[in-house]
Amino acid sequence: TLCFYVLYLYFPFDSVLFHPIVYLGRKLLLLYRVNRNVTGMNPISWEEFFSSNLAPKDLDCKKKSIELFCKKFSSSKTNVVLVTSGGTTVPLEHNTVRFVDNFSAGTRGSASAEYFLKAGYAVIFMHRHKSLEPFTRHFTGDEILDCLLIAEKDTIEVASMKVPKLLPVLKERREALDSGRLLMVPFTHLTEYLWLLRVSSEAMGALGSRAMLYLAAAVSDFYIPTDQMPEHKMQSSGSPPAISLHLVPKILRPLVAEWVPNAFVVSFKLETDPNLLVKKSQEALKNYKHKLVIANELHSRKSKVILVTSENHREIVMTKEELDAGLEIEHHIISELLSLHSLFISSN
Ligand code: PMT
Repeated sequence: TLCFYVLYLYFPFDSVLFHPIVYLGRKLLLLYRVNRNVTGMNPISWEEFFSSNLAPKDLDCKKKSIELFCKKFSSSKTNVVLVTSGGTTVPLEHNTVRFVDNFSAGTRGSASAEYFLKAGYAVIFMHRHKSLEPFTRHFTGDEILDCLLIAEKDTIEVASMKVPKLLPVLKERREALDSGRLLMVPFTHLTEYLWLLRVSSEAMGALGSRAMLYLAAAVSDFYIPTDQMPEHKMQSSGSPPAISLHLVPKILRPLVAEWVPNAFVVSFKLETDPNLLVKKSQEALKNYKHKLVIANELHSRKSKVILVTSENHREIVMTKEELDAGLEIEHHIISELLSLHSLFISSN
């Protein structure tokens, strides 16, 4: 910054030398940033991230509905949970044709949201657009159409054999909607997710210890800064593009320390090497000072998780019988969380 300032004093805006100097300066800055990441130095701060990646256009509108939702429950006894679900995309172009994505389908988040609703919580379901959602997740592809039959005089009937599957889901959905306890907040890309996470956390601050954050979304650790993204679709006619991904600052840090310090924050830890799970989760608890990490390994995540606190860790493992009977691990996870959260509330 100092160099720029000195140069600017010598070559003001109207000087013909100014533009090449700015160009050179930007290249040097880019080189510095790339080098900073390559050499493993710290990523930019979360403040820098938010000031250089502007809020999405519809943020204000979503923020208002989140604030209203939290306000509605601030004077009641209903606990409120923010469930994040699905993967975040990282665009490669401003006019995005291509993006980097991850595997998450939103199974964990959408199932968990249902169990929280069943337990009487109000749920802000922040999910990747078009990923699995509570209730509809039970019917994939054209299964819902298979429940319907064309009857006489062009009317439609529900196939009686589908009623046992459809009815409980419809009842639970109706209950959640009629009581106004479900708010759907979609996102697609990483920046959108992080802005929404920030405004939701801040809005939940007023709920104190009755607020829970259940961060099950698969959040990208890498991104391309806006000033380094091409405006238009990358062309295949030139040389192959060199894409340099930068580190995203860990958002758990300001979330716990500044945005929602009194809430019960639960993060997830995903690894592909099971030996790293507990160690990495304990490190996260030490670094970010939240309450619980739920550790899972990619391939066994539907049958086994480890609940890690700063005091201890213990596994939840699904038995074969439970899996065969169609029971879901989220049922056990949420029932554990209900007890931990209620202890947390009473101790606060
Ligand atoms: O949707 P499914 O297919 O059912 O899969 C569920 C799941 C495996 C995605 C889910 O159970 C899970 O593990 N989600 C967290 C995945 C993840 O982002 O893990 P991580 O180890 O990269 O990050 C750990 C934590 O740091 C996360 O809670 C994340 O919210 C947080 N994070 C991540 C990146 C970032 N820049 N800042 C963060 O604070």
